[in-house]
Amino acid sequence: MSEKLLRVALLGYGTVGAGTYRMLQENRIAITEKIGFSVEITRIGIKDPSKERDLPASMFTTDLDSIVADPNVDVIIELIGGIEPAAQLVENALRNGKSVITANKELMAKHGSRLVQIAKDGKLDLHYEAAVGGGIPLIQPLKHQLAGNDVLKMMGILNGTTNYILTAMQQDGAEFGDVLAEAQAKGYAEADPTNDVDGFDTSYKIAILGSIAFGKQVPMEAVYREGIRKITKLDIQYADMLGYRIKLLGVIDAITDDRLRARVHPALIAKDHPLASVNGVYNALWIHGDFVGDVMFSGRGAGSDPTASAVIGDLIDVGRNRAANGPGSALPYGLGMQTEPIDTLVARYYVRLNVVDRPKVLGHIALAFGEFDVSLAAMEMRTLGEGKGEIVFLTHPCVEADFRGALAAMERDAVTSSIETWIRVEG
Ligand code: NDP
Ligand code: HSE
Repeated sequence: MSEKLLRVALLGYGTVGAGTYRMLQENRIAITEKIGFSVEITRIGIKDPSKERDLPASMFTTDLDSIVADPNVDVIIELIGGIEPAAQLVENALRNGKSVITANKELMAKHGSRLVQIAKDGKLDLHYEAAVGGGIPLIQPLKHQLAGNDVLKMMGILNGTTNYILTAMQQDGAEFGDVLAEAQAKGYAEADPTNDVDGFDTSYKIAILGSIAFGKQVPMEAVYREGIRKITKLDIQYADMLGYRIKLLGVIDAITDDRLRARVHPALIAKDHPLASVNGVYNALWIHGDFVGDVMFSGRGAGSDPTASAVIGDLIDVGRNRAANGPGSALPYGLGMQTEPIDTLVARYYVRLNVVDRPKVLGHIALAFGEFDVSLAAMEMRTLGEGKGEIVFLTHPCVEADFRGALAAMERDAVTSSIETWIRVEG
């Protein structure tokens, strides 16, 4: 850091990069006062030099390697996304003695343990508050204020795009495809919506949160993942009738002190649970700690401004640390997390079946559930005409492997035309 100046370079000038730049300009005085030094964005790395930008061309370069090697840059803010070249750039920046801020959840979920250790070894900062929950402070509270608790369970609505889609499907009676297009137009959905709607984005975020809460990296391959493509307007209506909302949840179940289950899937959540009323692009994280009890954080989880807010918060941390000649505050977490498969989950389940509309159908289905020790809690049914019927069941808590066994038995039974969908129930 030069005498009175923190020299910052942005890698990426898209939704979050441009928002970060703007926030730094608009709130410059307050930010300078909080750090005690001026902050200047000196260089910006981008991919496509032909794009029109709202800043002088001289600020931009496609040579990002030269930025992370530049002795006149103190802090790198990585806002490219994805693994490469982001991973190599972040590693090189740290090895060149620069503190790093990133909003890249995929990078942190897959390489967090290694990168944080490099930062720690170099007495540098590596912060990633924006990677989970956009503008909501989640990572710092987990690292600090809640760190004395054993986290027993965490459930989060961690993807703005899918929450926006599910909320619109529920409130406007819209279908999935139409609402997805709108979410992309508003800039909530990322370039490839697969990341959002198939649950990858949420799986990175819940893995990061689990890694911090349990002190070891949650391996991505151990995170069970389902997206929301299978959710229909009809299931949202049935859920409503039964007293639930449908949300895409990232969940961590603590099994023991060093063993957890990480899962991402749509879930019916009881209307009286605080997560049920988190709507639109809002995100929320609900945590149950052994001493703190239940806490919930909520706010805008995506978009240029809220995400910039988290990035700038990290930058202020880095600046204060540098101003105090501090050792950096990267909090390392190791490897070797023990994980539990989804089969052993004990939960309640919602299932919607199409059946043949004739006597004894219910008897067949009850038998299949009974054989696998699955007890039923609620049921709705209607005829669809032409000899077909639709039945919806809610089960009491049962082991997931047993529930799947019952479904397989029903599928083999001629009275079942199709198992249309099934969804886990929380709260
Ligand atoms: P955008 O796609 O809007 O912007 C990406 C930027 O990175 C662009 O400026 C692009 O250059 C640049 N870039 C991409 N690939 C390369 C490359 N290979 N070399 C050089 N530059 C490259 O992404 P977002 O701003 O939406 O997201 C940035 C990060 O923030 C991601 O990690 C994302 O997951 C995370 N994030 C995003 C949120 C959001 O609401 N959008 C919220 C929370 C986190 P060019 O301009 O030339 O195309
Ligand atoms: N696409 C992500 C979302 C951006 O919709 O939540 C924030 O990480």
